[in-house]
Amino acid sequence: MPETSAYQVADWNGRNGEQWVANQARLDQMLAVFGDAAIAAAAPAAGDRVLDVGCGAGTTSIALAARVGSRGRVLGVDISEPLIRHARSRAPAGTPLTFELADAGRTALPAQSFDLLFSRFGTMFFDDPAAAFAHMRRALRPGGRLAFVCWRAAAENDWVRLPMGAIRDLVPPPPSPDPEAPGPFSFGDRDRVARILTAAGFADVAIAPFDHELPFGEGATRAAAIDDAVDMAFQVGPLSRALSDQPDAVRAPAAEAVRRAFAARPGERSVMIDGAAWIVTARNPS
Ligand SMILES: C[S@@+](CC[C@H](N)C(=O)[O-])C[C@H]1O[C@@H](n2cnc3c(N)ncnc32)[C@H](O)[C@@H]1O
Repeated sequence: MPETSAYQVADWNGRNGEQWVANQARLDQMLAVFGDAAIAAAAPAAGDRVLDVGCGAGTTSIALAARVGSRGRVLGVDISEPLIRHARSRAPAGTPLTFELADAGRTALPAQSFDLLFSRFGTMFFDDPAAAFAHMRRALRPGGRLAFVCWRAAAENDWVRLPMGAIRDLVPPPPSPDPEAPGPFSFGDRDRVARILTAAGFADVAIAPFDHELPFGEGATRAAAIDDAVDMAFQVGPLSRALSDQPDAVRAPAAEAVRRAFAARPGERSVMIDGAAWIVTARNPS
């Protein structure tokens, strides 16, 4: 069984988790179309028992609970205490929905107790993904489904490529990350995802590209939307990390450079940027 990554626990319980709570509404707007596509692929049915892996602030758990109805149930699991606390505060009363603070890849889960394993961008952070998926698969009933959405490579995702490109001459480039190290783009390689799920014992693995624009910033006017996009890039994600230790003398020109990059994107009261994801489905063999 994999050890919980101390780095991931600290990260999602520290500044990153707090920023995800603070930006929950706009992150939800940004991610909605991708989550909806994953829910469509998951096809939750009335009565289904669902595990929402890395549920964050619980938006997809709440949506799934509405779909499975009173005969079903949804368990949202996340390692981030601030996000789980926020998710609990948002759960509508009377829905079959619970949240647990735990590592989904190693927490005790009753065998064969779920019909569906689901995730919106919550599966890319395991130190040993094959072991984590094997662990979660054992909680699926025979024939149960897996459906999740994950990002493709950073180079294919303009919402990170554009702002990072804009600050290239202002900030020393971060060391090239190991593409398989836990992180948002660690499932970018389709063959790797297939290998992980096959090693974990899943069958019928299907990995389909899903490309869609996403609203990176929104506002009452175009200028306000661009401000919003810059603000979000400075708070969450790779750009915020690259700039977190930089002095104002670097952050101010970086903000201007990022603003120019966003201003070149379409949108009337938004900044629409291209996102590239995989929709992954598989089945627990019967
Ligand atoms: C990119 S966020 C997505 C959150 C949420 N699914 C959403 O779409 O808003 C990734 C989430 O995965 C969680 N996470 C990372 N590693 C985890 C693990 N081993 N077990 C459970 N959750 C984990 C993080 O705390 C974070 O909330």
